[in-house]
Amino acid sequence: MDRFAHITDLPALLRAMPKAELHVHIEGTLEPELIFELARRNGIALKYDSVEALRAAYAFTDLQSFLDIYYAGASVLLHEQDFHDLGVAYFRRAADDHIVHAELFFDPQTHTERGVDIGVVIRGLSRALETAQRELGISGALILCFLRHLSEEDAFATLEQALPYREHFIGVGLDSSERGHPPEKFQRVFARCRELGLHLVAHAGEEGPAQYIHDALDLLHVQRIDHGVRCIDDPALMQRLARRRIPLTVCPLSNQKLQVYPDLRDHCLATLLEHGLCVTINSDDPAYFGGYLNTNFLATFEALPQLRAHHAWQLAANSFEASFVDLATKSAWLKQLGEAFDVAG
Ligand code: HPA
Ligand code: ZN
Repeated sequence: MDRFAHITDLPALLRAMPKAELHVHIEGTLEPELIFELARRNGIALKYDSVEALRAAYAFTDLQSFLDIYYAGASVLLHEQDFHDLGVAYFRRAADDHIVHAELFFDPQTHTERGVDIGVVIRGLSRALETAQRELGISGALILCFLRHLSEEDAFATLEQALPYREHFIGVGLDSSERGHPPEKFQRVFARCRELGLHLVAHAGEEGPAQYIHDALDLLHVQRIDHGVRCIDDPALMQRLARRRIPLTVCPLSNQKLQVYPDLRDHCLATLLEHGLCVTINSDDPAYFGGYLNTNFLATFEALPQLRAHHAWQLAANSFEASFVDLATKSAWLKQLGEAFDVAG
């Protein structure tokens, strides 16, 4: 018996099903409207005259062309309240998308380089998580990302600054420009984070080669791979990821906008799922890439018509499996997911 046979409105189900988001950079949720509001509030002059002019600049040719604009946008964030408001704005949208849990990346070096204290960043975001839990019933966690275009020494210094706030973040990640900045550059700092009992993830195989995914696993000992789409070039790696159930946090609209897959119809996501990899769908930097999590789900299912209801179930179930929460919580979410499918039309 096909437990999914009764489902006729797949888009409605994609919207309504409970899901977790595991790859979203909080600085990448900074909408142009909030950039202008914070610039005004903080007395900062912007290079752009209007929200429309700023949005018009969001035409990216690759990862670096995006990062240049993304770091510039983040410069309006100065005070604890700014980080709180940014976080809460994300969680309100997450609630609309039926996200039950979100693990947020943040880039402390983007802020400490400008003279903003790391405590301001972490306290503001932590308060946003509390607000989300209290007002929206969404659980959240923070993952501190090291910028890979900076040195490992810089990453160590950032870790040192963050340690007084150890209870406020669950893990570390690695983001920014991938090409020319391989995982091995951060081997020592990841080893230290492992000793500290932090969860470990890293961006790998977005623009960089499949080898960087092997290296993130072998040299950094990460538990999840962010993006990871280039594993499609290496069948042995795909098998390795599938057998070990190493999650990939795939971001389809990001891949489209940064020209990793300029046409979503060519995206490897369905192939990876069919090969048994623990694939999840995520929004990465939704304010810059044209959509939050449900928009990513809808666009992906539209572009890849071989994706059916059982794939939707698998993607949501994978998002729970791949999250850093206890097994009892994961089971409760899976039950909710089953109920959403049972009542779907
Ligand atoms: N890749 C690398 N660094 C990033 C990204 C990304 O997609 N988004 C924000 N920082
Ligand atoms: Zn990312």
